[in-house]
Amino acid sequence: MSEKQPIRITDLTLRDGHQSLFATRMTTDDMLPIAATMDSIGFYSMEVWGGATFDVMTRFLNEDPWERVGRLKKKMPNTKLQMLLRGQNLVGYRNYADDVVDAFVEKAAEVGIDIFRVFDALNDERNFIAAFKAIRKCGKHIQGAISYSLTEKRLGGPIFNIDYYIDKAKKIEDMGADSLCIKDMAGIISPYDAFDLISQLKAHLTIPIHLHTHYTSGMASMSLLKAIEAGADGIDTCLAPFALRSSHCAVEPFVVTLKGTPQDPGFDLEKIAEVDDYLEAIIPKYMSFADTTRFSVIDIGVLMHQIPGGMISNLVSQLKQAKAIHRLKDVYEEIPVTRKDMGFPPLVTPTSQIVGVQSVFNVIAGRYKMISNEVKDYFYGLYGKPPVPVNDEIRQKALKGYAKGNTPIETRPGDILEPELPKARDVLKGITEDMGDILIYALYPMTGLEFLKKKYNV
Ligand code: CO
Repeated sequence: MSEKQPIRITDLTLRDGHQSLFATRMTTDDMLPIAATMDSIGFYSMEVWGGATFDVMTRFLNEDPWERVGRLKKKMPNTKLQMLLRGQNLVGYRNYADDVVDAFVEKAAEVGIDIFRVFDALNDERNFIAAFKAIRKCGKHIQGAISYSLTEKRLGGPIFNIDYYIDKAKKIEDMGADSLCIKDMAGIISPYDAFDLISQLKAHLTIPIHLHTHYTSGMASMSLLKAIEAGADGIDTCLAPFALRSSHCAVEPFVVTLKGTPQDPGFDLEKIAEVDDYLEAIIPKYMSFADTTRFSVIDIGVLMHQIPGGMISNLVSQLKQAKAIHRLKDVYEEIPVTRKDMGFPPLVTPTSQIVGVQSVFNVIAGRYKMISNEVKDYFYGLYGKPPVPVNDEIRQKALKGYAKGNTPIETRPGDILEPELPKARDVLKGITEDMGDILIYALYPMTGLEFLKKKYNV
């Protein structure tokens, strides 16, 4: 009999689950009543913070994001709390200066984050340097993540092939990560590719390997099972009411599937059912944020054009505003072309928005007749280095008259950014000196300030 090696299961219900299905609107008050039961299930970790939660809490929920972690921590002392950190972008949409990265990680560790899953939209490992260092300093777990991207229908081709991922993974391991995550944000990893990729990574690395994928295309349960067969150490799931569609695999079928195998997590299904009942009961509050435009649970569009669901809803609203919704098909065709001009960035926040918005401009106004400021910053190098070189002609066009100059930087973006906390402190003088507040402002000068004004009644 083979040795027992229970699969590590990370529950995403309280972060990616409601972010994927209900526009990240779940409130802390709705999480707390069930937190203790969730804590007793035996998850390896629970992702409860980061990603879009920070922005949505300050912008729409009028909740202090730092407090959420502390309150959950009290109810969940036995399970490691995890956050998703966008590398040097933290929980925002651009690269911040190193002083902001340092202070953010320190504060997140202080309020109760144990595992930091860190990714970069361009897979530029230089954007990990400051975050890794800060996490290490706090004595917390560094999980380095690679954004899973393709140019073909399946793993392979000139850019995103198996060697690309092995090379990135080894770099992340060498940089001191405690574990690795393949982060398939669009749900495009197919089962046999997952098997090959995880097998190869297991052969080349010593740190544990986790797979994160979304259910969107309908392949996710097959892919996770093949990943487990290939020796993956951890998978990500949601509790059933917050699973499937653009969210994740449900945990319940895995509990039964793995029963009696060496990877059996040994979870109690009765206890899980108790959590599921609770979650079912609160879902009606959030149904207005759900996508009810079709009956199908899977989005076959992702199988065809690989554009993630969240990106499509942004494109649709941008096109509607421009009264050009009839051009959606043209935009689908333009996205791969724009992406090629930009050096094939993986499509994940913030590059998904940057590529999406520019593709819409290209369709409506003509190619690069209008260029967004983010695209200019991108070509200047402020987001880092794309997987392959950008289109030189387009770059010159984008940087013509650009304020910072027209020769792109070669260095790590963090190296040229001036410290940003002094200014944030200055602006908040007389309102607050709390570091959590200062960070909220530093991350979102507009909506963050609005939130703080309400918080302090000024
Ligand atoms: Co995700």
